[in-house]
Amino acid sequence: MSLTMWQQLYGRDGRAVLSVMCFLFGLYPCLPKAVELPLKPKEILVYGGNGFIGSSTVEKLITAGHKVTLVNRGNWYWDSGFTVRPFVSQIKCDRMQAVNKCTELFNYVSATNKIDAVIDFSAYHPQSVIETLDLLDGKVKLYIYISTDSVYEVCLKNHSGPTLETDAVRPDSQEQREDFEAQESYGHRKLMCEEVLTSYQLEKNGPPYVFLRLPDVVGPRDNTYRWWIYQMWMKLRPYLEKDIVVTAALANKPMSLVYVSDVADVIFDLVENPNPEALNQAFNLALKETPTLMELLENIRDQLNLTNIRISTSRQPDTIQLFPSVSRGPVNISKAKTILHWNPTKWETVLKDTVEFYEKAIGIPYFGRERNDIIRTMQTYFTTKPYNVIRGLRDIYGLAYPEPRDEL
Ligand SMILES: *[C@@H]1O[C@H](CO)[C@@H](O)[C@H](O)[C@H]1NC(C)=O
Ligand SMILES: *[C@@H]1O[C@H](CO)[C@@H](O)[C@H](O)[C@H]1NC(C)=O
Ligand SMILES: *[C@@H]1O[C@H](CO)[C@@H](O)[C@H](O)[C@H]1NC(C)=O
Repeated sequence: MSLTMWQQLYGRDGRAVLSVMCFLFGLYPCLPKAVELPLKPKEILVYGGNGFIGSSTVEKLITAGHKVTLVNRGNWYWDSGFTVRPFVSQIKCDRMQAVNKCTELFNYVSATNKIDAVIDFSAYHPQSVIETLDLLDGKVKLYIYISTDSVYEVCLKNHSGPTLETDAVRPDSQEQREDFEAQESYGHRKLMCEEVLTSYQLEKNGPPYVFLRLPDVVGPRDNTYRWWIYQMWMKLRPYLEKDIVVTAALANKPMSLVYVSDVADVIFDLVENPNPEALNQAFNLALKETPTLMELLENIRDQLNLTNIRISTSRQPDTIQLFPSVSRGPVNISKAKTILHWNPTKWETVLKDTVEFYEKAIGIPYFGRERNDIIRTMQTYFTTKPYNVIRGLRDIYGLAYPEPRDEL
C-alpha cells in the first residue's frame, strides 16, 4: 500500500502515517499516537534540531504540544523527515553565512514577542552566538546551549579526579592559551560560545543560559556513525581484512559517554520547568558508568553474540580510534545529579537499545542515505576488496544491494 493510500485512510495528519510506519517497521523511537496539548504551549526556537540529539529533543517537545521552530540548512537525517518535519516550522538558514541573508528568520523574529526557550545545537563559532543574541535581543527567556566536554581540553585541570564544571578556566599564560587553542580549536570555539553567552548575560542584558557539556553521545541515529562502524566491523569481520584493534594507550582509560535520550529528557525538563537553580550554570552530563574503549567494544561484541571475535591492542599510530574524542578523562556528574536530578539510563540498557537499533537500521528502506554512508565507510577503510562488504551484508543481513528504493 502506498503512502498516499494511507493518507487517504488516515487523513493527512502525518502522525497517523507515522504510527503506521512504526507498526510496519517496529521502528524506535515512535511518537505516542495521541498528542495532549498543554495548557500553554511554549514558543521554542531551535538551532539545528534535525541532527542526532536535536531530533530526539524536538520529538519530545512536539509530542508535548509545544510550538517549535527550527533553524537549519534543511537536511533531514534518518527518519526525522517523518518524526519531526511535519510537526515543526522550518526556517532555512546557514549560520556560517551572514545572518542578513536569512530573511525568514528576520520575519519570524519580528512576528514573535517572546521566545520561551532557544535551544542551540549548532553554534560552533562565537560569531553565530553573537548574531543570534543581537537578533533576538530581549525576547528570549532561556537559552540552552549544547556544549561539550572538549571545552576542558583548552583549560588547566589541577587534579586527577573526573573533570568538574569549575575546571573550565583558561590558563593565565597567553602562550599556553594559544597552544591549547591551536591544538584544540573545536573545544576553544565551543568555550568561546559559552563565554559570549556569559558576557551578554552579565553586561548586555542577555538571556539566562544553561550550558550542557556533553561527552561523546551514543544511541540510535548518530550522524557520526561511530558506534555503527564498530558494530559493523564486528559483524562483517570475516569479510574484512582489518582486525578489531584498540590503541594500546587507550585500552585501559575510562571515558564518559552520554545517552542521546537522557540528554533530550533534560532539555525537555529545562524547557517545561525552568529550574531557577540551573540558570547561568554549566552542567556535565554523562552516564554513571565509565567504560574503557576496550570494555565498550567487548560489550558490543557480547551483545551481538559474537564471542569468538578477537579484540586486540595496537601501538601502530594509524590505529582506528573513534572514542573518546577527549584526552582529559571522564567528567564528574554530581552537579547535574543535585540540581537537574540527572539520573541517566543504565549502561546495560543503552548498550542493548543501541545495538538493536543498528542491527535493524541496515535493513530499513528509508535509511538509504545512512546505509550508503556506512557501506562506503566499510569499503574504504576496512578492506581492499569492496565487494566483500556487499557479500557480507547479503550473507549476514540478507541485504540485496544495490536494491531499488522502496516507494515510501
Ligand atoms: C584549581 O583550579 C581551580 C579552577 O581554576 C581553582 O579554582 C582552584 O583554586 C585550583 N586549586 C588549586 C589547589 O590550585
Ligand atoms: C543474542 O542471543 C540472544 C539469546 O539467544 C538473543 O535473544 C539475541 O537476539 C541475540 N542478539 C543478536 C544481536 O543476535
Ligand atoms: C565529584 O564532585 C563532587 C563535588 O565536588 C565530589 O564530592 C565527588 O567526590 C566527585 N566525584 C568523583 C567520582 O570524584
